[in-house]
Amino acid sequence: MDSKRALSVAVEAAMAAGNLMYRNWRTQKRVNSEAMHDIKLELDERCQEKICKILRSVFPKVAVLGEEGTVGDPLADERWVIDPIDGTVNFAYQIPHACVSIALQQRQGNEYVNCVGVVRDPFCDELWTAVRGKAARLNGKKIRVSQRARLSEAVVSVGFAKYDENLKKMLPQLEKLAPRVRKIRIMGSAALDLVYVACGRMDAYLESGVRLWDIAAGAVILESAGGEFWHRALPGEHTYHIVANNGLLRPELERLNQGESK
Ligand code: IPD
Repeated sequence: MDSKRALSVAVEAAMAAGNLMYRNWRTQKRVNSEAMHDIKLELDERCQEKICKILRSVFPKVAVLGEEGTVGDPLADERWVIDPIDGTVNFAYQIPHACVSIALQQRQGNEYVNCVGVVRDPFCDELWTAVRGKAARLNGKKIRVSQRARLSEAVVSVGFAKYDENLKKMLPQLEKLAPRVRKIRIMGSAALDLVYVACGRMDAYLESGVRLWDIAAGAVILESAGGEFWHRALPGEHTYHIVANNGLLRPELERLNQGESK
């Protein structure tokens, strides 16, 4: 697929879904289902439908793997990976820190590679984009990760995925990290965490149990901005442990973890 065309259609879809989110910012949201650490909104589904309609009108054969369900064969050679509202709990509580995340993946051997990424924050009117091999951009301007090489000067975001086992994994890390970094942040949108690292606002982002649709677009944007998207698959479909960083901080972050397991 022509990646320039893919990028422009993904931007169109992200802007449309973002507008729908923005219009509903201060409204009482209809909840489809909820769990202890998670909420699913009727608007999640409406945003996904909007995105799918736009993507499929131009690329009818490309599958869509989304947080709210799939269209076509999710194991096809090319697929969109979308999170219609990343940061759903923030959005449901009217906290304006949530976004639309759309990635295009292509199969290479047994793996999928993120080729195009778009993240749209309608509340701050920000749009991050990347095509693999080219510069990452924020609202059209090239971006780079920070140069901070010491944890003591770093702002590090930590994500808490939906299940108690993830909390149990991340809480000890949080306790270790908090006294050693300038500030810990728990922002509530994985895609925004990744693009904030990509444009140097934050220096690293860690989470265990995060899902593919939360991270696919942010990953290619981060790598295209010179950052490192370290990840390993966890049990459970499309589930990962990630250590996203500016390319300088992983050794120190790893030393901290080794200390922890002793
Ligand atoms: C969640 C957010 C959150 C992260 C969770 C995700 P959702 O996505 O990205 O920051 O910690 O792991 O599931 O449910 O809002 O799309």
